[in-house]
Amino acid sequence: MTAIPDFKEQKIEIASFIREVFSYITRFKGQLFVLKIEDGLMNHPLFPVLIRDISFLHKAGIKVLIVPGTRNSIDAQLKAWDISYSFNNGIRLTSEEALPLIEQASLGVAQRIMSHLTAGGCDGIQGNWVSARSLGIIDGVDYMRTGKIERIQRSIIERLLAENFIPIIPPIGWNKLGHAYNISSTELATELCKYLQVAKLFFIGNENGISMEGLKTSSLTKYLEVTDSGVISALDIDQAKEILDLNPQTLNFAQKDYLLNAIQACKVGANRVHLISGEIQGSVLQEVFSSRGDGTMVYSSQYSSIRPAVIDDIADILRIMQDYIQKGFLIPRTQEDILEKLKDYVVYVIDNAILGCGALHPFENDCAEIAAIAVAANYRKSGVGDAVVRHIISAAQIRGYKKIFLLTTQALDWFYQFGFEDGTIDDLPPSKRKHYNTRRNSRVLVYSLEK
Ligand SMILES: CC(C)(COP(=O)(O)OP(=O)(O)OC[C@H]1O[C@@H](n2cnc3c(N)ncnc32)[C@H](O)[C@@H]1OP(=O)(O)O)[C@@H](O)C(=O)NCCC(=O)NCCS
Repeated sequence: MTAIPDFKEQKIEIASFIREVFSYITRFKGQLFVLKIEDGLMNHPLFPVLIRDISFLHKAGIKVLIVPGTRNSIDAQLKAWDISYSFNNGIRLTSEEALPLIEQASLGVAQRIMSHLTAGGCDGIQGNWVSARSLGIIDGVDYMRTGKIERIQRSIIERLLAENFIPIIPPIGWNKLGHAYNISSTELATELCKYLQVAKLFFIGNENGISMEGLKTSSLTKYLEVTDSGVISALDIDQAKEILDLNPQTLNFAQKDYLLNAIQACKVGANRVHLISGEIQGSVLQEVFSSRGDGTMVYSSQYSSIRPAVIDDIADILRIMQDYIQKGFLIPRTQEDILEKLKDYVVYVIDNAILGCGALHPFENDCAEIAAIAVAANYRKSGVGDAVVRHIISAAQIRGYKKIFLLTTQALDWFYQFGFEDGTIDDLPPSKRKHYNTRRNSRVLVYSLEK
């Protein structure tokens, strides 16, 4: 006879995932994401899915602005008209005769994105809100009608965003006389971070972030976290600079350009820059709704930290503990229980999201109890629990406790690795011993701080 599968665990995990998504939606609601989308993705079967995912973000209340990459479409257009073209240091040299075709190709890409947005129930709007001037002649090379950005009309863009439009800004700029210039869309996306308050900037291309394979590293970048597919998960500005400096030959032009612009965007105010692939199903949603995306994130401020809990954290602490309470791994706690001992709690935070918690409760005889150690289901096995326990042990040391103890039913082996040893009920301070729950029959572990 076939056993009936038990879906209870699966349901708990789904509920915990949905809660996490809601917490991210609440955080990002009203904030602005700028997305640069490479046109090389437009013929990929997942392109409509990518734009639909972006529509979902917008419908969830996140403001979205799109800058289309246009390199492939421009190349195709120029080839179709048999117009030769060249690049210097990755920058296109734009001739007079090429310019109208470049404009056409750029507006065409924007138009296609707009059509997909309309299909997703969102209103895209494109316009020329960028002033530019000639890049001129550099080291003897005349860039002709290639321009550099002079100014972006912030107020119009802000008004459109407030009215729930998705502005699409093709990489064409105009000078005061109405002459058009071909500008870099990566630079445009970065420059927008100077003018607008951008929470996240995405570079969405065919490649998925920066692969660690073959890269030279030194002290700053030796121990970077990588994803299952070998991509660097996160880099602060200094680490990104080091990767660039040490690997001029290994990184390709697009990777160098993205990293340089990511550093620049962080410096002018974007909180996070994500380098992701549009060829991976759901990559944008993963990156937004979890801090474990598939691509590389460049960030400017402190990314993870352990800090004392505050009242606003209680709901998240309860949310993380809930599944473990239901499974009987943790004893039930109410909002009031946590509030009463709030000063004992710490939380592990990544990117402002709470992913783990723990507490150190003081007892008599210079003893303290480690309790309420829990890690959000999706972030287990990432070192969060380890970091919280080590933080609490050193806090106990600093506060002068002689012994710490804990009660556990399910995590014995895990705690042994920190140096905890088996104890008995007699090792508990008297006030704890009095309330020991014999039915629960937890094991007592102790850790001497006098060693
Ligand atoms: C126990 C817990 C805090 C570990 O957190 P975590 O962030 O996943 O742990 P880390 O990333 O630091 O360590 C992961 C390693 O510990 C192991 N581990 C996790 N839980 C374990 C357990 N209960 N027993 C033994 N080993 C365990 C994992 O298999 C993993 O091993 P690996 O690195 O060889 O793959 C987390 O699983 C949790 O929240 N559990 C439910 C609540 C609980 O039992 N709390 C303790 C009672 S106070």
